[in-house]
Amino acid sequence: PALSECISLHDLETVARHVMPSKAWMYYSSGADDEITLRANHSAYHRIWFRPRVMRDVSRVHFSTSLLGQKSSMPLYVTATALGKLGHPMGELNLTRSAAKHGVIQMIPTLASCSFDEIRSAALENQTQWLQLYVNRNRDITEKIVRRAESSGVKGLFVTVDAPQLGRREKDMRMKFDDVGTDEQKESGEKIDRSQGAARAISSFIDPSLNWNDMGWLKSITNMPIVLKGVQCWQDAVLAAQHGCAGVVLSNHGGRQLDFAPSGVEILPEVMSALRDHGVSTDKFQVFVDGGVRRASDIIKAVALGAKAVGIGRPFIYAYSAYGEEGVDRAMEILRDEFEMCLRLLGARSLDEVTPEMVNCSNLGSA
Ligand code: FNR
Repeated sequence: PALSECISLHDLETVARHVMPSKAWMYYSSGADDEITLRANHSAYHRIWFRPRVMRDVSRVHFSTSLLGQKSSMPLYVTATALGKLGHPMGELNLTRSAAKHGVIQMIPTLASCSFDEIRSAALENQTQWLQLYVNRNRDITEKIVRRAESSGVKGLFVTVDAPQLGRREKDMRMKFDDVGTDEQKESGEKIDRSQGAARAISSFIDPSLNWNDMGWLKSITNMPIVLKGVQCWQDAVLAAQHGCAGVVLSNHGGRQLDFAPSGVEILPEVMSALRDHGVSTDKFQVFVDGGVRRASDIIKAVALGAKAVGIGRPFIYAYSAYGEEGVDRAMEILRDEFEMCLRLLGARSLDEVTPEMVNCSNLGSA
């Protein structure tokens, strides 16, 4: 179908599923084990209802914001997803170019298909990019990656902490990959075991010994704000604040790691209240959420509950797998239109006016 016939992110996914290589579909769409968490990520949003306000002059609404000190046109960012070229030959560059046009921040994955330099050079001069980091068993390699990112102008470091070992994504494991690997891995001649699916093939370097004592080292090698990606309970959010992080992403890695891990938005209320109880200012310490976001209304719910922004993964990679960069443009436009409408109908003119009282999350319960 023509791109203009896609009027929701779901439509883009449906097209992608039919046109993209099945290996790519299996890698992108899979979740861990029985995919209970994968499904729960999206359905958690269905348990949150609005309490709209009326009669509030919503002729003008705006929803730009500031994330880790960087401007963003909407409270969302393109999160890191590995192996962008499985779905489309231009891979991550589709995301870079579209993010630039829409004033949205892109998180560059450690395991991008395109090289880091390629992704940085595709960015406009004033375009913000962050780096997602998998800490390597060889810390010298990690230090080099981090320093290179900072000196090239990357504005934030998102350290993935929910993947000391990659989860079992069975759909992906059943595919036998012979051509997988990042450009950098191929260049370095690193030996890759391709018999267990794409995810396992590329991830054996990740250091499972990473722990809170490493925060000192991480902070010593960079001045970028450090955010822990993959926090799944309030205790770890408080610890992250106490260890000098700039924020956390409440995330279960898109349901690809521990099945039955809670969804980010489900634990958001208890995280916000624990941070308050521990005297953490959530203006300075920013809380992000990702997983299962498919509508601007989902984003507004997360914002109402205290998130600064949400990360969106699969919808953007499906969009470019189906239609290239224009598909991502379309996804961004759909979200922007939905935002405008949803804010108006909710009775909020700006994100500041989206408050906890505007949602009913009594069914959210994560006791
Ligand atoms: C991911 N995610 C991820 N996260 C990370 O920190 N490093 C990575 O290399 C990857 N790779 C990756 C690949 C693919 C195909 C997916 C779908 C996801 C997780 C990602 O950043 C994010 O947490 C989820 O994708 C959010 O869920 P949705 O938006 O995909 O539902």
